[in-house]
Amino acid sequence: MSAPKLFSPGPVLVKDNVRWSLLHSDICHRSKEFEEMFVNTQEKINKLFQADEQYYSVIVSGSGTAANETVLSSIFKPNDTVLLIRNGMFGDRLFEIIQKYKIPMIETDSTWAKYPDLDLIEKTIIENPQIKVVAMCFHETSTGMINPVYEIGQLCKKYNKIFSIDSISAAGGQFIDVVKNNIAIATSVGGKCVGAFPGSAYICAKKELLENISADQCKNVYLSLYKHYYSAKTTHQTPNTPNITLFWPLNTALTNIIEEGLSTRIERYQRCAKIIREGAKRLGFRLLLNEHMSNTVTSVFLPEGIEANLFLDEMEKRGYVFYIGKGDYAKQNMIQLCNMGEIYEQDCYNMLNVVESCLKDLRR
Ligand SMILES: Cc1ncc(COP(=O)(O)O)c(C=O)c1O
Repeated sequence: MSAPKLFSPGPVLVKDNVRWSLLHSDICHRSKEFEEMFVNTQEKINKLFQADEQYYSVIVSGSGTAANETVLSSIFKPNDTVLLIRNGMFGDRLFEIIQKYKIPMIETDSTWAKYPDLDLIEKTIIENPQIKVVAMCFHETSTGMINPVYEIGQLCKKYNKIFSIDSISAAGGQFIDVVKNNIAIATSVGGKCVGAFPGSAYICAKKELLENISADQCKNVYLSLYKHYYSAKTTHQTPNTPNITLFWPLNTALTNIIEEGLSTRIERYQRCAKIIREGAKRLGFRLLLNEHMSNTVTSVFLPEGIEANLFLDEMEKRGYVFYIGKGDYAKQNMIQLCNMGEIYEQDCYNMLNVVESCLKDLRR
């Protein structure tokens, strides 16, 4: 059976050299070879985030949520308050983590797919001087919306707040540019736009912030940012036994981006998204968003009379994997067509042809 074509927002199709790097010989994580690869990967992560020498990256063995939980369980001192800006399922996930660690939280709005109201956010920051951190998703994957990162970064600069960004589904697909966007801390994972495997998460943060974290303020043992930073800085290692096998493909996938060029990668994603969007509209799908759309996720409602789960099953039989919409969107027959990883223009045209014939079969 041929491999399924993953048009899902992670896991993604990986390049052959990424898959082959899983076969690296077994090494110890306390060895020189590991330390060299670790440092090399940190440098490449910094490039991915367009970070300068003020920033430092650590790698967390776990999925993207592990990186987010490392940040949100570590960066707050007692009584520090977070302003959470959320507008979809992954913003809700940040909410859940913040609540779990009992961090004082203020919110503006939490309506899915609603673009954040910058005036309201500024007013909230002014009225609540106890806010220390502003947290948000860069790319809200459940809708495909790119949030106003630059604008909120500027507000954080103006009012001296720490800007914490979940860029799990954005890194490698959008320009994160932590410097220009005034991002103090950003998270991501290999198994999305970078084109590696799930389970290899990382965090890029300002050294100043990392230096200011104490062991005591970290509320999780495994996901302690203090431990990850201290271990990386002093020994070029991780605090616990890492998933070494996944470090190699992450490193290779980052090299692939550097060789392809971040701009070239992003332009390819933009071209693919355009093909998918135009094709989907031509086939009678309605797009959830008309603006602020990411380069990699297209949320669409199926044409009248076609049931989402049946359509997804039929497409899977034809070798294509998409995602059902999250939350209430599933009931509204929304699905997500994504172009992260090893997907090129011709793959998008081929996919649309199969969608067209599948729709015809289902209407018969
Ligand atoms: C924006 C965002 N944040 C967090 C996550 C959670 O990542 P993971 O499933 O790797 O834990 C995802 C996953 O799709 C995501 O898109």
